Amino acid sequence: MDFYDPKKIATGIDQIMQEAPVDIVLVAHGSLLAQPECEDNLTTCRDSLLINLISPILFIEACAKHFAVQNSGTLAIIGSVAGDRGRKSNYIYGSAKSGLWRVAQGLQHRFANTKVQITFIKPGPTDTPMTAKLKVNGTKLEPVKNVARQIVLGIDRGDRIIYTPPKWRVIMWVIQHLPSVIFNRLNI
Ligand SMILES: NC(=O)c1ccc[n+]([C@@H]2O[C@H](COP(=O)([O-])OP(=O)(O)OC[C@H]3O[C@@H](n4cnc5c(N)ncnc54)[C@H](OP(=O)(O)O)[C@@H]3O)[C@@H](O)[C@H]2O)c1
Repeated sequence: MDFYDPKKIATGIDQIMQEAPVDIVLVAHGSLLAQPECEDNLTTCRDSLLINLISPILFIEACAKHFAVQNSGTLAIIGSVAGDRGRKSNYIYGSAKSGLWRVAQGLQHRFANTKVQITFIKPGPTDTPMTAKLKVNGTKLEPVKNVARQIVLGIDRGDRIIYTPPKWRVIMWVIQHLPSVIFNRLNI
């Protein structure tokens, strides 16, 4: 499927949903295009926003329409801790994830008092193909199985938001509340 084509996404999701009732959808696609390349090349900048924000929203809305009709289903969406505060190292990717969080909040409001569950997931740096370059540079990465397990448990609990590993909730709270005078001295 072309992940940027609204008509193909709508048709594809309609077909899947008509085959059998769907319990859980996990919207998990994304790409960590390097921040310096997004600054130098507007095509890369656009591509990052397309794959990390626009495309997930199209899939989310295509699925939400069906969940609204059946009044059941869990829509789990992978965002990132990168969306919690704009940082020089990844603010284009982060802005897309932040936008996704706003969409998830809107959905949580829309589906409040229904049987449709919206779970938004904010992983920290995790050992997957996406972070292969970071791993070479020595960035500490969480094993993907731990993150996956915590996502499954959080969805089963009906969490609205999952930080995984949980320590990232505290780390990002601190980062969000740092005054600019301190924040601007950090190389993050
Ligand atoms: N790894 C981390 O540290 C980390 C941290 C926070 C959030 N996340 C988020 O977690 C989610 C999963 O990422 P991951 O870490 O598991 O990385 P990954 O293994 O690279 O998975 C990314 C997925 O997105 C798909 N994808 C990328 N560009 C696409 C395109 N243009 N069209 C269609 N599919 C495309 C990939 O498909 P192909 O395999 O076919 O290319 C792949 O299945 C992403 O939303 C990512 O932003 C990751």
